[in-house]
Amino acid sequence: MSNNLRARTCALIVLVPLASACSWFTDFKQQPSVGTWQHFSSDSAAGRGFRGNPAGSVPTTGSTVPGFMISYSNFPVTVDSFSVVRNPVAVDGRSLENGRKYYAINCAVCHGDVGDGNGALKQASALYGFAPPIISDIAKNYSDGYIWGIMRNGRGIMPSYNRIEDMDRWDVVNYIRGLQGKLAQPVPTGPLGMPGETGSKLPGATRIGPTVPSAFARPTQGQMTGVDRRPEGRP
Ligand code: HEC
Repeated sequence: MSNNLRARTCALIVLVPLASACSWFTDFKQQPSVGTWQHFSSDSAAGRGFRGNPAGSVPTTGSTVPGFMISYSNFPVTVDSFSVVRNPVAVDGRSLENGRKYYAINCAVCHGDVGDGNGALKQASALYGFAPPIISDIAKNYSDGYIWGIMRNGRGIMPSYNRIEDMDRWDVVNYIRGLQGKLAQPVPTGPLGMPGETGSKLPGATRIGPTVPSAFARPTQGQMTGVDRRPEGRP
């Protein structure tokens, strides 16, 4: 074996295992990743994984996320989980006016113009009088977040009114507080216009279909309720 060939063979023997041991090629199997039991690197922020946690992940410490963050179900227990969500919308003329519009269109048919449960459905037939009043003590004691949530997910036989977008639903909550007599001033009641009337009387079509869940930010409540989520062009 010539010296030259021996040197090349040696190089191969050394280099091939080296190259395969610490490969810098990436594919599905070999890729930058966090291995099982791997410790946080020294430059990662204290207490946090160095790549951050994926949205919606549940910490191994066992804390759970509120049901509404992962579910559009209409089970009472899911609706309960909305109770903690803070109402970011101030009660003012704009909010009450907008809330009244959405209430008149979506809720009054069952819950009644004044919230007493005597809506057009019940007036048509007592058989349809299944919606409870929403000016009862029970409803007065619900948090704003709860009422906002029951609209998003529905509850039991009450359908979801998720087609009312996030920020508009807060206006409905504020308006309902008015119906309940919880505001300084009573709110005006009654129908605003005929079905299909738009312009200054009733809001036009929503940008989302009735069956499509409105976009909602996960996973922090801050993001979801923050006024910064008010869609562009809205007051
Ligand atoms: C199709 C009829 C119907 C419509 C429309 C409707 N609801 Fe309901 N709502 C119900 C029924 C039925 C219940 C009772 C659900 C249950 O048994 O869990 C209810 C319950 C509620 C409750 C809880 C009352 C309580 O005493 O626990 C609130 C608050 C409420 N609705 C608000 C609204 C709002 C706001 C709207 C409009 C966005 C609306 N509902 C539209 C039928 C309706």
